[in-house]
Amino acid sequence: MSRARRGGFLETERLRPIIAIDGPAGAGKSIVARRLAAELGFTFVDTGAIYRAFAYVARQSGVATDDPTTLGGLASDLVREGALRFDFGAGGTRVFHLGDEITSFLRLSHIGIAASLVSAHSEVRDAFLDLQRELGSLGGTVFEGRDIGTVVFPNADVKFFLTASPQVRAERRVTELQTKGEKVSLDDTLHQVQRRDHLDSMRLVAPLRRARDAAIIDSSALTIDETVVLMAHHVRAFDFDHGES
Ligand code: DC
Repeated sequence: MSRARRGGFLETERLRPIIAIDGPAGAGKSIVARRLAAELGFTFVDTGAIYRAFAYVARQSGVATDDPTTLGGLASDLVREGALRFDFGAGGTRVFHLGDEITSFLRLSHIGIAASLVSAHSEVRDAFLDLQRELGSLGGTVFEGRDIGTVVFPNADVKFFLTASPQVRAERRVTELQTKGEKVSLDDTLHQVQRRDHLDSMRLVAPLRRARDAAIIDSSALTIDETVVLMAHHVRAFDFDHGES
């Protein structure tokens, strides 16, 4: 992917590009972003892990999801003290709180809902903004989240909005949770997917929405491989267009 380092990507101050992938829960963002990063030789950052880790710690600390002041203070303390450590390795994201690994708790559905609730507060988002920008300071990174192309990196080199129908996303979530030993029904999961969509897109601060310059990819009828190929093609086409101009 040598061409990715010249052409349009050099218009930014970063030496290597930032690729933003936003979209609703269960659209396959994590797996696709990880695979795309591997294909391009980039680092992958799963920003949902930051909010999930925070939701987990807030819950352990007994802080209510509707207490923005205390949540914001806790988030700032965690960032300042470096209490959360993220290992965005190729084999999956691992998260540590004060040295203890908390990875296995983060994909539980109640932590997903809690992450959605705590991440709706500007006090919490502000606390994690610089951390995310710092993670992307060198470029060469695929970021996956809800507001990467709109808020965190509005100047990202390539932006995607990856989506799929609620039914397909619920089916994928059921499969994912079942492999982790969680028993869930499709109806409940569909209801949770719709609730998360509503919470994430209706919140006042950094709501889930497509950046105007993001390419929409609907993965409902695509396999993971097909989605990655499509996106990698788009990244290369973007580079080529700018490199030629
Ligand atoms: O992508 P995920 O399901 O792991 O994200 C968990 C929650 O975190 C999601 O419901 C909304 C929130 N989130 C966010 O607000 N902004 C991000 N960039 C990533 C996740």
